[in-house]
Amino acid sequence: MSLSVVILAAGQGTRMKSATPKVLHEISGKPMLFHAIDAAQQISDDITVVLYHEAVRIQKAIDTNYNNIKFHTQDVAQFPGTGGALKGVHTTHDKVLILNGDMPLVTMEALSLLIQGDADINMSVITLENPSGYGRVAITNGNVLEIIEEKDCTESQKKIETVNAGVYCVKKEVLERYIPTIKNDNAQKEYYLTDIIKMAVDEGKIVHSVMVNEEEFKGVNSKLDLAHAEEIHQRRIKAAWMKAGVSMRLSETIYIDTHATFEGECIVENGVTILGASHIVSSHIKAQSVIEDATIENSDVGPMARIRPASILSDSHIGNFVEVKKSTLKGVKAGHLSYLGDATIEAGTNIGAGVITCNYDGKKKYQTIIGKNVFVGSDTQLIAPVVIEDDVMIAAGSTINKNIAKGELAISRTPIKTVKNFFYKFFTESHNAN
Ligand code: UD1
Ligand code: CA
Repeated sequence: MSLSVVILAAGQGTRMKSATPKVLHEISGKPMLFHAIDAAQQISDDITVVLYHEAVRIQKAIDTNYNNIKFHTQDVAQFPGTGGALKGVHTTHDKVLILNGDMPLVTMEALSLLIQGDADINMSVITLENPSGYGRVAITNGNVLEIIEEKDCTESQKKIETVNAGVYCVKKEVLERYIPTIKNDNAQKEYYLTDIIKMAVDEGKIVHSVMVNEEEFKGVNSKLDLAHAEEIHQRRIKAAWMKAGVSMRLSETIYIDTHATFEGECIVENGVTILGASHIVSSHIKAQSVIEDATIENSDVGPMARIRPASILSDSHIGNFVEVKKSTLKGVKAGHLSYLGDATIEAGTNIGAGVITCNYDGKKKYQTIIGKNVFVGSDTQLIAPVVIEDDVMIAAGSTINKNIAKGELAISRTPIKTVKNFFYKFFTESHNAN
């Protein structure tokens, strides 16, 4: 991999109107910048990210997820702009691919088109019916002449539909020659990286334009752009899983995190949300369920169930309005309206409707351990910490606040009191009072 990559991420991203730095906004559960880094890592072992705004926060986010990414802090006060971003960046290889941190849809395949050949500069271009916002590319007889930023365009230049997509592969010696000489005599008083095109052309260097796919090179500048990019990314994720054998009902209504994985034959119904590094194996996730960082194997879940982080379900049936958190269920049925948190439940156990693990006392969380073949009657509260051994029956409506031994019945009920003819007395008297 004789190629270095520089990812520009120093910009403020004012158009996002957010306290979160632009490049940390997520697409399918992963910051935009990480999408760019992941594409870059497939083609390079020398990646530098240029930072300035919120540099500490962004660097920390990168360092907790990646090793060997280099950082460069741009001197924005003296040299604002994409050209300023490259000042003082050290790369190890002869070719340098320059990427924007706000391009989460770019793929390694698309980038490989730009790194081919022996031109001094390969620059990415797209043709747009509405080119507004982009730098326009002046091309005569197939030869690139220059890039003119929109704010510096004349009225006739504004009509050019061929625009700069913002990714370039430049020979290191070319960068070293032109970056120091870029000036800021333009409408924004910024040092434009795009100025190196004209400089190179004027000195007879070879500049190639490479037509790229608009969708992949879409820059995200606003929350509207972010939403559009995520829709495209979601479609890609779901198409890949459907190709791998996952059935999806009304796939447009399903959300799947980029870290989620499937195995075997799975069915995902409409309105399902699968977040985090969930792993779903040979299971059926029914309509409107939410799964987060959970492992589900050989089970059916939902409709309208919520399986929260660190849950592991196998050979189980989870019905509607059941919430499971940080629990391991093996061969369990929990058909209706339950909260199972910090629990371990073994095979053959049936959890009745309305069963609640009372796992929190306001200070700490406690475990509920339930053995095999336990029948937990409806509306039972299990006050943790508590252990229910194998083959136990718990009567409906019980409050269980002590451990129950193997084979026992547990029942906690206030005896029923009845008052004869109370109904008739109560309503007849109230009727007379009126
Ligand atoms: C840039 C190009 C434009 C192109 C468009 C494609 C320039 C001058 N213009 O415009 O020709 O059509 O991308 O999307 O390059 N950044 C820094 N330091 C800075 C300024 C920006 O690192 O001082 C980074 C940003 O964080 C961002 C990237 O560079 O990731 C692009 O900056 P942005 O302001 O979005 O450039 P555009 O105006 O979109
Ligand atoms: Ca941009």
